[in-house]
Amino acid sequence: MTGLDPTKMPRHLAIIMDGNGRWAEQRMLKRIVGHQRGAETVQMVVDQASGLGISYLTLFAFSSENWSRPKLEVRALMALLKKYIRNELRRMLKNNIRFNVIGNRADLPSEVNEILDDALRQTASNTGMVLTLALSYGGRQEIARAAARIAQQVQDGKLQPSQITEAVFSQYLDTAGLPDPDLLIRTSGEMRISNFLLWQLAYAELYFTDINWPDLTINALHAALADFQARERRFGKTSAQLNQRS
Ligand code: FPP
Repeated sequence: MTGLDPTKMPRHLAIIMDGNGRWAEQRMLKRIVGHQRGAETVQMVVDQASGLGISYLTLFAFSSENWSRPKLEVRALMALLKKYIRNELRRMLKNNIRFNVIGNRADLPSEVNEILDDALRQTASNTGMVLTLALSYGGRQEIARAAARIAQQVQDGKLQPSQITEAVFSQYLDTAGLPDPDLLIRTSGEMRISNFLLWQLAYAELYFTDINWPDLTINALHAALADFQARERRFGKTSAQLNQRS
C-alpha cells in the first residue's frame, strides 16, 4: 500500500540523481562504486514510476559539465551506461517502456551511441512510460541549439519571426513532444537546478531531499510523490479561481 492517490500522480517526473560520489566517499569506497549503486537505484525508480502510472520519467544521467571530471571517472560512467542500457533493454521491452535520449549525443563515444540507437529502435513502438535519459545534457546548450535551428529556418524562409511562439520554440528543443515536468526531485541536499531542463521546469514543483541517490528507497520516493500530491498548483491563478472548477 503506497498511500498515494493514483489520480494525482505527476504526469512527468524529472530527477537530478545526485550524491553518488559522496555516498562512496563516506564509505571509503571509490566514486565509481557510488555510481554502480546509483544504477541500482535507477532500476528501482524506473520500476516504481512505470508501476505507479507515471507517463514520463526523465533522469539527469550525465551533464555537459560532467565531461570535466577525471578521465577515469568519465570512462567508468560511460562503461556503466553501456552495461545499464544493455541490461535494461530486456526489462524495457517487458514493461512496454519507450526509451528516449536528450542532450548533445555528438559528444558521446560511438559505441555508446550505437547501444542507445539500438534501444531507441527496439522500444520505438512501445506505448507505456517514456524513459528519457539526459546525456551530455545542458539546458542552456539545448536552448542555444534550438535558437540556432530556428534562425536557420527563418534564414531559409521557412519560418517567420512572428510565428515563434512558446509552443513553436518548444518543438525545437530536445524534449519536443514531451510534456513539461510536473515534479523535479533532487537528491543529496543540493538545492540547485544545475542547468537541467531550464525551459521545461518553468512551472514544476521542486522537491529536495538530503538522501544521497544510492540510498534513495521506495519509501523515500513515495514520500516525494506524497508531498507533490499535497501541493496546490496554481499556475499564477488564485486559490479561489482554482476552486471554482469552471
Ligand atoms: C551525481 O553524483 C551523479 C552523476 C554525475 C551520474 C548519475 C549516474 C548514475 C545514477 C548511474 C548511472 C546512470 C545510469 C542511467 C545507469 P555525483 O558523482 O555528482 O555525486 P557527488 O555530488 O556526491 O560527487
